[in-house]
Amino acid sequence: MINDVRAIILAAGKSTRFKTKKSKLIHTICGQPMIVYPAKLLESLNIPITFVLGHQAENVKKAIEKSKTKSCDFVTQKELSGTGNAVSCTKETWDKNNLLILNGDTPLLTPDLIEITLKKHKDENADLTMLTTYMISPKGYGRVIKKNNQIKIIEDKNCTEEEKEINKVNTGIYLISKKFLEDNIDKIQKNSASGEFYLTDLVEMASKQNKKVLDVPVGYDFVRGVNTLEELWAAEQITRSQLMKRFMNNGVRFELAQNIHLDIDVEIGTGSFIATGVHLLKGAKIGEDCFVGAFSIIDNTTIGDDSKIYSHCVMQDTTIGSNAKIGPFARLRNNVILKDYVTIGNFVELKNTQIDEYSKAKHLTYLGDSRIGKHVNIGAGTITCNHDGINKNPTIIEDESYIGSNNTLVAPLKIEKNAYTAAGSTITHDVPKDTLAIGRSRQVNKNGYAKKLKNIKKKECEIDEIKAKIKNDEHEETQRINFVGAVKTKNKQETSL
Ligand code: UD1
Ligand code: CA
Repeated sequence: MINDVRAIILAAGKSTRFKTKKSKLIHTICGQPMIVYPAKLLESLNIPITFVLGHQAENVKKAIEKSKTKSCDFVTQKELSGTGNAVSCTKETWDKNNLLILNGDTPLLTPDLIEITLKKHKDENADLTMLTTYMISPKGYGRVIKKNNQIKIIEDKNCTEEEKEINKVNTGIYLISKKFLEDNIDKIQKNSASGEFYLTDLVEMASKQNKKVLDVPVGYDFVRGVNTLEELWAAEQITRSQLMKRFMNNGVRFELAQNIHLDIDVEIGTGSFIATGVHLLKGAKIGEDCFVGAFSIIDNTTIGDDSKIYSHCVMQDTTIGSNAKIGPFARLRNNVILKDYVTIGNFVELKNTQIDEYSKAKHLTYLGDSRIGKHVNIGAGTITCNHDGINKNPTIIEDESYIGSNNTLVAPLKIEKNAYTAAGSTITHDVPKDTLAIGRSRQVNKNGYAKKLKNIKKKECEIDEIKAKIKNDEHEETQRINFVGAVKTKNKQETSL
């Protein structure tokens, strides 16, 4: 392998065929922007990179910077006049004797392929090495044409009908000696049909100058270009399948694997079961022997071994210990920490809250900005009123406390160890340890009053019935009068005839 190489990634194009406002290079594949794929691959091989930016330069640059890829230089292509011009713009960064040029829209490349290319280029002392592939439907790709010992690339839109039948295509990945590039890059002529400077013209130029042109055929899937949303979908399917295969071979079971979404950096421990429709997003770390139920979304969240996440849970920025039970239909967000053996049931929302070992909040509850101790039971329908209209305030519930059902806990509030609150309470003051707090109006029983109410109701019903009857009688009488009137009129008409 050679070390004397710098990569140039072409990333200035307009993404016209994507038909979205956003540059295709920042659309994600398994949670990672497309442009970060070649960047990370080259970083893993210690190859410094020059990115050519143009269309939406700022956004593309931001995505690369966010990935923290080392050794990146940026060059701007002022006028987007083709791949030849794009490479020409990078001249100032050519500090190595070989330049590895690739398109930013080729996310499935592997390090092995690049290593093989570097080795072959060196072993064969080539001036220009290019990766080629075969496609059943090569539409859109440049065709590789070999004739009379000469090799050239003709772009799809410039192909004759006969050339369009050629299945061997250019992948857009080349390793070129700096010397050849320096001597030829500015000799590329503007293509008369498209008005662009085609980098691909260098192949014919090298061939005509009797330079050593090496053609390395590779499998199509590794060098797929992503020019449309359909191709993005296909590239993501392949990436996801590769991730899943790795997990499956490590003892992870996916139920209906085709309906599960995985981001590139997720972790899943051996023996875990991931049900259909689950989304494991960036930063999701699932322990061993866990269960993640259908349609749950796990985002930047760590789940300890042997925990069960039932269906339809949504969690972000959360850490869950081992042997926990969450959901179904639980929402955990913004810094939630649940220790081992915690149980969170249906329709419970937790925000910025820590709950210690063996505590439970099983039904219809909101706990925000709270710190809950061990062995605490939070009754159904408990709500922390953490926001007073201006500030967020904390609620502290210490070990072994018991919060009755339908409690309103008005923060700031501290419920000390082993305290109880009565069902239906509105708790506005701190509760000392071992104390029962009752925060509701006292119940009053009025003897016999229910019976009285019933009698009143009965009388009202009787009056209503009488009224209805009178109304009905009046209606019948009106109908009778109308009928008699009609008969009289009819008789009169008949006598006058
Ligand atoms: C290119 C090749 C084609 C090859 C295919 C493989 C050329 C002329 N054609 O076609 O032979 O089969 O890749 O995928 O090179 N870009 C710039 N500046 C520009 C134009 C494009 O930086 O002025 C960048 C784009 O952002 C993209 C890359 O160059 O990352 C390739 O451009 P694209 O328009 O996708 O070329 P293809 O038509 O796919
Ligand atoms: Ca392309």
